Amino acid sequence: MIKFRNIKGTHDLLPEQVAIWRQVENIIHLIMEQNGFGEIRTPIFENTDLFIRGIGTDTDIVSKEMYSWTDQGNNLLTLRPELTAPVARAYIQHQLSNKNPMHRLYYLDTLFRRERPQKGRQRQFHQFGAEAIGSPNPEQDAEIIAIAYNTFEKFKIKDMTVNLNSIGSPQIRTKYLKLLRSSLDKVQSKLCGTCQNRIEKNALRLFDCKNSNCQTLLDQNAPLIFDEISDSDYLHFDIVTRILNEVGIPFSHNKKLVRGLDYYSHTTFEITSKSLGAQDALCGGGRYNSLIEQLGGKPTPAVGFAAGLERLILALEKNQFSEKSPDIYFIHLGQDATIIASRIANDIRIKHEKVVIFEVLRRSLKAQMREAGRSQAKTVLILGDDELKKNKIIIKNMQSGEQKEIEISKLDQYFNNTSN
Ligand code: HAM
Repeated sequence: MIKFRNIKGTHDLLPEQVAIWRQVENIIHLIMEQNGFGEIRTPIFENTDLFIRGIGTDTDIVSKEMYSWTDQGNNLLTLRPELTAPVARAYIQHQLSNKNPMHRLYYLDTLFRRERPQKGRQRQFHQFGAEAIGSPNPEQDAEIIAIAYNTFEKFKIKDMTVNLNSIGSPQIRTKYLKLLRSSLDKVQSKLCGTCQNRIEKNALRLFDCKNSNCQTLLDQNAPLIFDEISDSDYLHFDIVTRILNEVGIPFSHNKKLVRGLDYYSHTTFEITSKSLGAQDALCGGGRYNSLIEQLGGKPTPAVGFAAGLERLILALEKNQFSEKSPDIYFIHLGQDATIIASRIANDIRIKHEKVVIFEVLRRSLKAQMREAGRSQAKTVLILGDDELKKNKIIIKNMQSGEQKEIEISKLDQYFNNTSN
């Protein structure tokens, strides 16, 4: 017999894990709403072209990580590897700019990238993120960074670093890339194979290389894009940093932070945590003033971030979450009692909105009591044929140990008057 297993790079979440995920998700929804962001949900797959045009042909995501296929209608489709391009697509399609000059959108959703799986890196994963569309101003960049930072603070994430940079406007990019390539001419053959490939196709990404030899060669030879940005780009960056200082968000200016997606301009940032190991990026983001126009919309400035939910959950202390125990464990013995108990359990769930665990394995009283204890239910109801003959039911308060017998018809009244 074949034993089926989940696909490499995907994970099952069992109920104890889902209980933590749900609490985390609820807090994220709350934080986003407090900041005035409204949730957007886009389809799980889109036209492949959206990502090619949005993220860039030579990025890792587009060149090697997308799950793409041609459907029966000959459409080339892709499971979304990120959400900024889909959000921009929806923004254009629904003509949101006509409704309001400013849109604050957030998401918490599933994504797919065919990366090499390891701790904190899956092929199916989840991101929460925020996209502020409409403002070209640095206070918007600072607010986006603050939302990301405050979210991680709320979850008490330790050892965080906010890495911040500016890669300036797209206009200086061509000039800078020319400068970068020529400065590396004499050392090109000493770079690793990936970097040699990147020089022509995606030279900014050289700075992401993990090879220490490449980094030394870059340090010795390469100009940094930040040193080439214009005065107005510098002013924009300066105001972002002044707001972050004023708000009290510590950051470090990392002139090598260029980010791996082509749509960025001006501010780029990443928040890392040492508690994560090799895949240490909790989130990444930045400004993308050209993306909406590139996808067919009007020129619209925007800035946003996205964070890996799996990574957040890896980094946080699980003991800050409460485990939910049932309100009632319902023990019953004997055929007639079981039938009546089924009806009572159903009534309690509907009328009193209690969480009721109903015994279905027909275990002995002792075994059912043991199970009730294990479930940590606050109250145990016991109905046997003997009680049923008297139209009574036993109620045991598991906290105090107190046990009493009451009329079945008085159960409603009991639950109306008790907090248990
Ligand atoms: P990104 O840096 O590709 O940016 O991803 C953002 C975050 O998603 C990462 O920092 C990481 O926490 C998480 N992440 C990425 N790939 C994986 C993976 N394979 N497994 C688990 N977690 C992962 C973006 O996606 C941009 N759209 C962010 C953005 C929004 N920029 C502007 N607005």
